[in-house]
Amino acid sequence: PEFISVGQLATALNVPSRNFDRKLKQLGFGELSHDHVLNSENAGLIAMEFNFEPVVESADDDLRAAPLPEDMSVFPQRPPVVTIMGHVDHGKTTLLDFLRKSSVAANEHGGITQHIGAFNVLLESGKSITFLDTPGHAAFLSMRQRGANVTDIVILVVAADDSVMPQTLEAIKHAKTADVPMIVAINKMDKADAAPERVKSDLARHGVEIEDIGGDTQAVYVSGKTGLGMEELEEAVVTLSEILDHRADPSSSVEGWILESSTKSNGRVATVLVRSGTLRPGDIIVAGATWARVRTLKNEAGALVEEVGPGMPAEVDGWRDQPVAGDELLQAPTEQKATEVVDLRLTKQEQLKMAEDTEAINEARRREQ
Ligand code: GTP
Ligand code: MG
Repeated sequence: PEFISVGQLATALNVPSRNFDRKLKQLGFGELSHDHVLNSENAGLIAMEFNFEPVVESADDDLRAAPLPEDMSVFPQRPPVVTIMGHVDHGKTTLLDFLRKSSVAANEHGGITQHIGAFNVLLESGKSITFLDTPGHAAFLSMRQRGANVTDIVILVVAADDSVMPQTLEAIKHAKTADVPMIVAINKMDKADAAPERVKSDLARHGVEIEDIGGDTQAVYVSGKTGLGMEELEEAVVTLSEILDHRADPSSSVEGWILESSTKSNGRVATVLVRSGTLRPGDIIVAGATWARVRTLKNEAGALVEEVGPGMPAEVDGWRDQPVAGDELLQAPTEQKATEVVDLRLTKQEQLKMAEDTEAINEARRREQ
């Protein structure tokens, strides 16, 4: 736990409370009640004064995959994970729907397309691309807040008849801040008033230099309506991904993200994106303050799949409680370990809450004095 009360610490260190209080005063903590909650840093300092070596335990450290080697080429390539962003009505949903249809057509199982938070498109070349189907900006922001890039590549959609608009600029800003490379899809090229050259010069004025005018950002002319340029767009993604050389270890312990969470007729389900390792039915996974023994894995077409490797999304059921979108996913070796981690996380949440409450009370008291 990262918080402990003065009384608990004295007991843990097996120090008579009078000695303990004296030491606290010497250390400059003043008069602290035994209910006063110390953070791990202060508790550690005090413990060291009594010749203890403090260890702050974290419940999930040992669930993490081993650090990655410097030479990633020992691992196979994985599909790139792509988010589509752009201004309102510039055609994000239309583009995604077109790409999704081609993915269902390519899927032998067929079936009714479900709107799960992500889908993978298998290309004729045998390569595939994973598209995140979460509201672009929201997904991007929530993952940024967690300090990690779920997305490898951003497709910035700009309508050829409307050019650069406020949310286009916002998307550019997000992608640049997160250091995620962009491909520009100049959409609605079927329209009579399409003006792609204007889009390019408008983008250039905002720091996005397109390849054919001397920059390093690729632009593809597309139409979500007619399907123009769709294969070219997919190829652009694959080429960029090969240059960036996206790889992952498919045999590590599973790590990933919760993209979406809901309750369906078959119970609590979550769309997950695997970052490392391979997820299989029967695996035990932890996310936030809940865990699951994976009952089934389904792809976006609702078909059962036996394994989900790095860069691939799937719908997972078997959750004890509803997981939360944006939470990290880690594999646990046993159910016991999973419940231990969840319990520790819940305790930590409570302690944090208690520490905040205590701090608020102390603060109020100080003000009264
Ligand atoms: P929001 O989700 O509201 O931000 O919009 P969006 O970016 O998802 O745009 P959406 O795909 O809903 O498309 C907006 C409108 O533009 C719809 O009426 C589409 O039919 C139309 N549209 C999208 N792509 C094209 C295209 O390539 N050509 C033409 N002519 N119309 C398009
Ligand atoms: Mg939309």
